[in-house]
Amino acid sequence: MDLMEYQAKELFARHGVPVTLGRVIDDPAAAPDAARELGGRVVVKAQVKAGGRGKAGGVKLAATPEEAHTVAAEILGMDIKGHTVRRVLLAPAADIAEEYYLSFLVDRANREYLCIASTEGGVEIEEVARTHPEAIAKVRIDPIAGVDEAKAAEIVTAAGFPAGAAAVVRRLWDVFVAEDASLVEVNPLVKLADGSLEALDGKVTLDGNAAYRHPEHTAYDDKAAADPLEAAAHAKGLNYVKLDGSVGIIGNGAGLVMSTLDVVAYAGEPYGVRPANFLDIGGGASAEVMANGLGIILSDPQVRSVFVNVFGGITACDAVANGIVQALAVLGRQADKPLVVRLDGNNVDEGRKILAQANHPLVTVVATMDGAAELAAQKGAE
Ligand SMILES: Nc1ncnc2c1ncn2[C@@H]1O[C@H](COP(=O)(O)OP(=O)(O)OP(=O)(O)O)[C@@H](O)[C@H]1O
Ligand SMILES: [Mg+2]
Repeated sequence: MDLMEYQAKELFARHGVPVTLGRVIDDPAAAPDAARELGGRVVVKAQVKAGGRGKAGGVKLAATPEEAHTVAAEILGMDIKGHTVRRVLLAPAADIAEEYYLSFLVDRANREYLCIASTEGGVEIEEVARTHPEAIAKVRIDPIAGVDEAKAAEIVTAAGFPAGAAAVVRRLWDVFVAEDASLVEVNPLVKLADGSLEALDGKVTLDGNAAYRHPEHTAYDDKAAADPLEAAAHAKGLNYVKLDGSVGIIGNGAGLVMSTLDVVAYAGEPYGVRPANFLDIGGGASAEVMANGLGIILSDPQVRSVFVNVFGGITACDAVANGIVQALAVLGRQADKPLVVRLDGNNVDEGRKILAQANHPLVTVVATMDGAAELAAQKGAE
């Protein structure tokens, strides 16, 4: 589960990481009072689970409480990478001397943790990696030893942080371990004009596998703030993640769906077209599950075409084909976008025959995954 910035900062505060909590509001009318409470000059920040908020116009300085009202009204309701801004955080404008980057994450390839740190913070770390790779320190962390005093000193030295940063590094590590996070990222971690350090932003991913150890984390599972399509999908038990492209994707099995996203992104590149979502309908791709999945995808206004990519296994292709036909019947006129279907695996011939007989005007069957991705991308560009 990803946390929003204000939630991440609440966690940070609990572990002694220096932060200013500010005020979260969902109505611009509340902005002037909140800004006054915070000292007048504030930064208004969109609370969405997407990066690059600043670039998208979702982080703005307001010099007066009146301006905070105007700016909050601008940002609330804004769309950032497909996420509607329903809340903004008002934080006192900080007097920033330097901006740093720090993160702890799981390094799966090396079966350990990794700290990434840089004095080039405040901008996207991917950008720094491209332009100044030498400015990024990567420090491996033994999972058993963790970040002790010596490791914190190693990180601070490797990154070029001021010596006082070691304490903040260790506290952020405490957050990572104690909260069972798989990511703790602070960008920017700032040195203020008075020399003290503060986490001005925070991104935390909590490991869902450890949720049973943290009943208090359920408070962060903010259904109202979730994307409405994601909320509707999760309510139906679907494994759906909204993305910001135009080609809807349905597949069975997370691995197949991930590679479907890749082939669609590749095929879509010449058209400037990308996948609209991740949706894994799992092993038992019944008509009901297919109808639910298609229903969610087709209600995404960004979707222009849908790629159904199914490999028949225990649930054979004929059952899936029947599922698609029945789903289209259930959806009726709600189904109004072209569907490109690629079926393979168990009982593929029967499956294709069922789709051919149904002869639905929206459905095109393509034999290969690459061919289907190409067609779906073309239709997604229309
Ligand atoms: N409280 C603040 N006072 C002054 N400047 C701020 C404050 N908060 C953020 N900023 C400035 O705005 C920039 C962007 O803020 P922030 O890092 O929170 O958002 P972002 O990086 O655009 O979003 P994301 O981290 O989601 O990509 C910071 O690098 C910093 O320069
Ligand atoms: Mg940031």
